[in-house]
Amino acid sequence: MSEGEGGTDDGTEAADDKADEATRHLAVVVAKPRTESVIDALEAEGVYDPDRSVESWDADGVAVPVTAPPETVEVRGIVQQVGERRLRSLADHLRQRGWTDDELDAAPSSWAVVGSVVLVAMGDAPRPREVGEALLALHGEADTVLARNGISGVHREPSVEVIAGEGDTETVHTEHGTEYALDLAEVMFSPGNKAERVRMGDVVAPGDRVLDMFAGIGYFTLPMARAGAEVIAVECNPTAFRYLVENTMRNGVDGLVEPYRADCREVVDTGIDGGPVDRVVMGYYEAWEYLDHALAALAPGGTVHMHETTPEHLVFERPIERLEAAAAEAGRSVELLDTRRVKSHSEGVVHVVVDARVT
Ligand SMILES: C[S@@+](CC[C@H](N)C(=O)[O-])C[C@H]1O[C@@H](n2cnc3c(N)ncnc32)[C@H](O)[C@@H]1O
Repeated sequence: MSEGEGGTDDGTEAADDKADEATRHLAVVVAKPRTESVIDALEAEGVYDPDRSVESWDADGVAVPVTAPPETVEVRGIVQQVGERRLRSLADHLRQRGWTDDELDAAPSSWAVVGSVVLVAMGDAPRPREVGEALLALHGEADTVLARNGISGVHREPSVEVIAGEGDTETVHTEHGTEYALDLAEVMFSPGNKAERVRMGDVVAPGDRVLDMFAGIGYFTLPMARAGAEVIAVECNPTAFRYLVENTMRNGVDGLVEPYRADCREVVDTGIDGGPVDRVVMGYYEAWEYLDHALAALAPGGTVHMHETTPEHLVFERPIERLEAAAAEAGRSVELLDTRRVKSHSEGVVHVVVDARVT
């Protein structure tokens, strides 16, 4: 039998095609809440197949497409996944629903998958429900799509609307190994702050004593405590506070986090157990109004991370001036350590953070 020269060796070639065909439809079955971390791990191992959709497998499991059986990722099983090639984009799915090019121009260009929920700002998209269904088809790991209509009030409460799926807004989001349980209809979650959440886990040292004045569900507190810091986490919104406490246990850091359901100014005024801290985190747009309390809690030589929303033409001088003025007021001085743009907040306004050592 000769090979390759137009001659067909139908025995083995057919067998090869069959083997190829088999691997071309492989998928691993995992529990739904693990979808995100499993996709990350499969990508890291180089066997995740992005050309096929993640699909529901059974009541609480999903089938994640792979190009080969994974060696390092723990899975329930390896299966043959049926179903057509993945439509790669929202536009593909909407075109399949008959959307015209003009209509597609009004479709959302960005969204975020937070646990099992897709968060999307709808803008002036013509048929939001179809966008929702298309996003569910695009993200097999999700079961609900929420339209975001802004965040307001001291408690930063979200205004959202269920536009597709089961309508279950409570979920667990995993990010760099940190688990965030939350109800996206009750408490805010900013996908754009992801890098900043991760960075807070990197800047702390084990044993650092930190005051998180606006802790929420533990956006910064959890990565810092997972890195070994001792965190005094203050949150005044009862719902966010409930998730904060749950999340410290969920991440196994309840021994390192001291949660206070209170106004952070009261906690500082009452006096912090163990005395002034090494670091103060102020993840709140009006943080500058709390600088006197932040500095009162900060040990000499400690670091403050102050967030604010700043008009483009005042980036970074305004937050720096506010920090220097508050320090001078307290008879202290500021050494600038870092300035960062966290994300675009709105037209001409940037969410920034300034890190400074205060002597
Ligand atoms: C904007 S959120 C935190 C966002 C978080 N930094 C992030 O990166 O996503 C601010 C949180 O501070 C809480 N908060 C506002 N004023 C407060 C105060 N005086 N004391 C304690 N918590 C406060 C709000 O309830 C809200 O949960």
